[in-house]
Amino acid sequence: MANGSRRAGGAGQEGRSRAAGKLAAEAAVEPDVGGREGRAVGGGLQGDDVRYDRALRPKVFADYIGQEKHKENLRVFVEAARRRGEPLDHLLLSGPPGLGKTTLAQILAAEMGVTLHMTNGPVVEHKGALAGLLTKLGPNDILFIDEIHRLNPIVEESLYPALEDFQIEVVTGEGAFASSIQIPVNPFTLVGATTRTGLLTGPLLSRFGHAVRLDFYPPEELARIVARSAELLGVPITAPAAHEIAVRSRGTPRVANRLLRRCRDFAEVLGSGAIDERAVGTACERLDIDRAGFDEMDRRLLKVILDDYDGGPVGVETLAAALGEPRDTIEDVYEPYLLQQGYLGRTPRGRIATKRAYDHFGRARPAGQAALQAGLFVED
Ligand code: ADE
Repeated sequence: MANGSRRAGGAGQEGRSRAAGKLAAEAAVEPDVGGREGRAVGGGLQGDDVRYDRALRPKVFADYIGQEKHKENLRVFVEAARRRGEPLDHLLLSGPPGLGKTTLAQILAAEMGVTLHMTNGPVVEHKGALAGLLTKLGPNDILFIDEIHRLNPIVEESLYPALEDFQIEVVTGEGAFASSIQIPVNPFTLVGATTRTGLLTGPLLSRFGHAVRLDFYPPEELARIVARSAELLGVPITAPAAHEIAVRSRGTPRVANRLLRRCRDFAEVLGSGAIDERAVGTACERLDIDRAGFDEMDRRLLKVILDDYDGGPVGVETLAAALGEPRDTIEDVYEPYLLQQGYLGRTPRGRIATKRAYDHFGRARPAGQAALQAGLFVED
């Protein structure tokens, strides 16, 4: 991913809505920030999907639906920082892909009236690259590092003095002539995003003033997001259709917005143009999205455990090999929703399929399986 930066609007509602317009216009040309977060039906986010994903993103808190508790806290932190004329405290955003970590970073910058500088952990390859980013920051700007758990350890260490004292160490000369000087940088806010808080080092974690863990959205909130997006796309949608899209979207706005666009395609070509329950039903049938919102990969994952490993436990590496997917993708993209919804269990000896998973496929759980698994079941 390339680095991108943009200036959001200043104070006041008018300034903010102008900023929102600018962000929307820029959204179409901004370099890829979706990256491997994308969870597509059969692949990552591509082309139009990326463009629309950005165009539908809320630009200010007032337009952001859901995550109420976090949103209200962040509003207070923004207001307090603005009144003091200081940067926000460093903030860690965590949670599964597609729940709005990037969106929240963009909103924070817009509400603070500062520039958002976006990068990605592995892209910052060495200390010099980090110094380049930090010295470009204006007062109170936000540096957004996606996948911060993938930051090179040496780069991470050189970030600490910047976070604490707004200073960086620059080495000049070589060998016996090498010396280091401290260079001040503007006060700024680091917003780190991660799908895996557990992979962050203690020293980095301790430098965040606040951490927000985003949760999957309940269907009612997702339905509101779908209705809002449909309005932005200019496509009519019935309330039951918006609800149906919501329950089939794995609690994830990005998935819901993508399914909405596919439903629009089916409604326009095969239906009346408006999205009703029938259009949603057709789209889901054709795209192999079942009643629980599972796609081919979700079903394969559960079926490997059910069929090939008698319901588990099965180690994640074995699962990854059986599915031909990297372990990270299994853990970051597929498992969280299956775990949260109780289809999958995590035990010290590996993953197990729960009764709910057996029920989903209309199968009876073998006698003795429940007792065996009960003995194993220790959540981590
Ligand atoms: N689009 C994607 N996420 C959204 C959210 N949380 N609120 C409104 N629209 C969205």
